[in-house]
Amino acid sequence: MTPDEFREHGHRLIDRIADYRETLAGRPVMARAEPGEIKGQLPASPPDRPEEFEAIFRDLDAIILPGLSHWQHPGFFGYFPANAPLSSVLGDFLSTGLGVLGLSWQSSPALTELEEVVVDWLRQLVGLSGAWSGVIQDSASTSTLVALICAREKATGHGLAWGGLQAEPRPLVVYTSAQAHSSVEKAALLAGFGRANVRPIAVDATYAMSSEVLDVAIRRDVAGGKLPCAVVATTGTTATTAIDPVDAIARVAREHGLWLHVDAAMAGSGMILPELRPLWDGVELADSLVLNAHKWLGAAFDCSLYYVRDPDHLVRVMSTNPSYLRSAADERVKNLRDWGIPLGRRFRALKLWCLLRAEGADALRARLRRDVANARWLADEVRSAPGWSVLAPVPLQTVCVRHEPPGLAGEALDAHTLGWVDRVNRSGLAYLTPATLDGRWMARVSVGAEATERPHVEALWALMRAEAGLAGPAH
Ligand SMILES: Cc1ncc(COP(=O)(O)O)c(C=O)c1O
Repeated sequence: MTPDEFREHGHRLIDRIADYRETLAGRPVMARAEPGEIKGQLPASPPDRPEEFEAIFRDLDAIILPGLSHWQHPGFFGYFPANAPLSSVLGDFLSTGLGVLGLSWQSSPALTELEEVVVDWLRQLVGLSGAWSGVIQDSASTSTLVALICAREKATGHGLAWGGLQAEPRPLVVYTSAQAHSSVEKAALLAGFGRANVRPIAVDATYAMSSEVLDVAIRRDVAGGKLPCAVVATTGTTATTAIDPVDAIARVAREHGLWLHVDAAMAGSGMILPELRPLWDGVELADSLVLNAHKWLGAAFDCSLYYVRDPDHLVRVMSTNPSYLRSAADERVKNLRDWGIPLGRRFRALKLWCLLRAEGADALRARLRRDVANARWLADEVRSAPGWSVLAPVPLQTVCVRHEPPGLAGEALDAHTLGWVDRVNRSGLAYLTPATLDGRWMARVSVGAEATERPHVEALWALMRAEAGLAGPAH
C-alpha cells in the first residue's frame, strides 16, 4: 500500500470508526454469534492475489461487526470498563503508524523517554510518592508475574544465577486473598512456586483479605519449615471490588520480611480521585503495584502500569545485555527491556500521552466521579426494592446484586439468576456478566463505560426488574 492509498483508505477507516462510535447505541451489546459462525464465513486459506480494500470493508460490515460484543456501548456493564476514548485511539494509531520498536533507549530514544514521563504523570495523578518508578507492561497478569519473580529472587538472594528454585532448601510460599484474580495464582505457578505453596487467605464479611488470618498462615508456614516469600493484596477484587486492608497487610509482610505486591488493576484508575485514596492506605509500604490504565481510566488496551520502589532490583532480575543491544548511552539511560519480560516494546506511551493531554485530568476525574455516583444510585435503588439485595459493599463502580423471590433458594435461585441475566443480555440493550459469590450466582453490574450516563443505568435497572419478572417483559 502506498502512502497515497493509505491516505485514502485511512480517512475512510477513521470515518467508519467515528460512525461506529456514533451509532453504537443502536447495536445489540452482546454478540449474537453462535460458536464457529464467524470462522465459517471466512476463507480457510489466505489470498494469493491482492484484494481491494473495499472487499475488506464489506467483510467488516457483514461478518466482523455482527460478531462483536461492544465494550464501548453505553449498555455495557460486563466484566470491567475497558474504555478506549478516541483521543487514546489516535495515540494507538500513531504508535502503529510510526512502526518503531524500543529494544533499548538507542533503538528509539523518544519511545523510552515519553514512557518515563507519562508513567510519572500517572504516578502523580494517583497520588503515589516520588519513591516509585514505573514502566508499561501489556497486562496486569504480566506485571504480577514480574512482581512474583522479583519476590522470589529477593527471598533466594538471586537464586536464578545458580540453582534456581530447585536448589532452595525450603519451599517458598505466596499468600493472596481467596478472592484474588486468577492471574495471581497463574503468576505464582509460572514463577515456579507450585500450587501447594500458594495460600488462599480467608476473607472477612466485606470479601477483603483478613490480615489476622494472613499472619497466622505465615507463622504456621515458618513453623513448618517453609519460607514465606510474597503477599499479593488486591485493591478492588474482580468479583466485588473488595478492598484488602493494604496497611495492615503491609505491616504483617514487613514483620515477616515478605515482598508485598498490590494488584490495583481495576481500582488503580480510581485513585485519580483523592477521595478514594483512603481505599489503598498503606500502599507506600508495598514493594510493587500494578494498575491498568487500559481499564476504567481509558488508555486503549493494552496499557498496564507496573510500579516498583527498587528499580535496581527489578533490573538485576530482568536484565540481559547481549553485545548487539549495547550502546554508548547505556550508563545514562533506562533500557526498558530490563524492566520486564519481552525484549521488544511497542510505543504504548503514546496512547496514554494522547489521552492525558487531549482530555486533561479534570475531565477524567469528572467521568470517574460520574461512574461512582451512578453505581451508588443503582445500589440505593436495588437496596430499597423488595426482593432485591446488594451483596457486597460498593466502594467503586461495581454493584453485586441478586433478585431473591420468596421461596427460591439453592440451585433454583441460581437458575433464576442466570435466567434473568441471560434475558437481559439477549435483549441486546445491556450486557452483564454473572459470577459466583459464596457459592451462589449473582449479577455483577460494572458501571463505567465512557458512554454510560445516568439514563443508561436507569434503563438497565428497569430492564433487570422486567426480566426478573417483576414488571412484565420490557421489550
Ligand atoms: C483485580 C484484577 N487483577 C488482574 C486482572 C487481569 O488483568 P489483565 O487482563 O491486564 O491481565 C484483572 C482483570 O479483570 C483484575 O480485575
